Amino acid sequence: MKVLSVVGARPQFVKLGPIATALTGAGVEHVIVHTGQHYDAVMSDVFFADLGIPDPDVHLGVGSGSHGVQTGTMLAGLDPVLEEHRPDWVLVYGDTNSTLAAAVSAVKMHLPVAHLEAGLRSFNRRMPEEHNRVLTDHAADLLLAPTDEAMKHLTHEGLAERSVMVGDVMTDVCHLVRDTVAGTPLAEALDVSGLGEGLDLEQPYLLATIHRPDNTDTKERLGAILEALRAAPAPVVLLAHPRLVAKAKEHGLDLVGGSLYGTSPLAYPQMVRAVMGAAGVVTDSGGLQKEAFLLGTPCTTIRPETEWVETLEGGWNILDNDLTQLADVAVRQAPTSERGTPYGDGHTADRVAKVLLERAR
Ligand code: UD1
Repeated sequence: MKVLSVVGARPQFVKLGPIATALTGAGVEHVIVHTGQHYDAVMSDVFFADLGIPDPDVHLGVGSGSHGVQTGTMLAGLDPVLEEHRPDWVLVYGDTNSTLAAAVSAVKMHLPVAHLEAGLRSFNRRMPEEHNRVLTDHAADLLLAPTDEAMKHLTHEGLAERSVMVGDVMTDVCHLVRDTVAGTPLAEALDVSGLGEGLDLEQPYLLATIHRPDNTDTKERLGAILEALRAAPAPVVLLAHPRLVAKAKEHGLDLVGGSLYGTSPLAYPQMVRAVMGAAGVVTDSGGLQKEAFLLGTPCTTIRPETEWVETLEGGWNILDNDLTQLADVAVRQAPTSERGTPYGDGHTADRVAKVLLERAR
């Protein structure tokens, strides 16, 4: 059997890690196509290196652009690649423009499409990811759902017959990396020596990321978020995504000052270690909300809703879109409630390989 994975953005490389290992272990021929949506080394190459993912077989080098230009360029690039390989499955991941482009290109060629992380819904149609997920789920032949909640959404949309609950592959990789980095000194993972006086990782600190269009596109919104972070009751290490850096520059806003210490994004193992050491996480990233939950670090999410509703149980994650609670809740004791295992047992990738083998035409 031949599986062709299409990835392009940071969170997809994380999911690809355990899948690549499981597919190879199951004797599957695996072709990896990188669209080039993310291209900076810190956004792409380091994930392949750290997670032991083979180099992509094909790199489309698409780069940045408006949604239409980026997705359209990917479509044009993918057609000949899919035609050449004609795999048994085109495997697409998550909810980025790379996901949608690969799903559309494949269905048009009558190639079976499997969607990993199917069924997530924010019900917020302002989010580009929401368009990508809904369209991909309805185009795909096999929907690999991470949670019971995702299965519920797929059933509600009439897609139950094509859906299988496999668990969340991010649990596989997060737990594996957690065990590897547990003994690593924090200072090795998160070098703050150049970030100025007053930042001492022996003291409680917050780890933050902000990158969503709704939080970065206008000066007012981004300014309000940065102001709230500057006033936070503990130092905030802000791992600045290139989109945030570009938007802050465009709006004339600083990523430092007060409690705020802006720095570069981290590679995955370093990120996991930094979350483990943090008193709290402040983010608008879906993946990081879940990583905080899996690693037992309280999270405050700067969004009106979350797809990962299980993280809200027991107060592990708190939504604070209007920034009124941040000062009180960003640094809080971890809840004592059990988190359970809503995101699976850490063996999802093996199940995915099995389901793909069983259901290949
Ligand atoms: C994309 C995904 C989002 C995901 C995020 C993870 C879509 C619509 N969005 O958002 O779902 O949560 O990735 O990071 O697919 N840039 C660089 N270097 C890079 C990549 C991007 O400088 O390697 C800058 C460019 O200015 C670019 C901007 O970041 O225009 C946005 O990149 P893009 O890939 O369009 O979306 P993300 O915000 O990264």
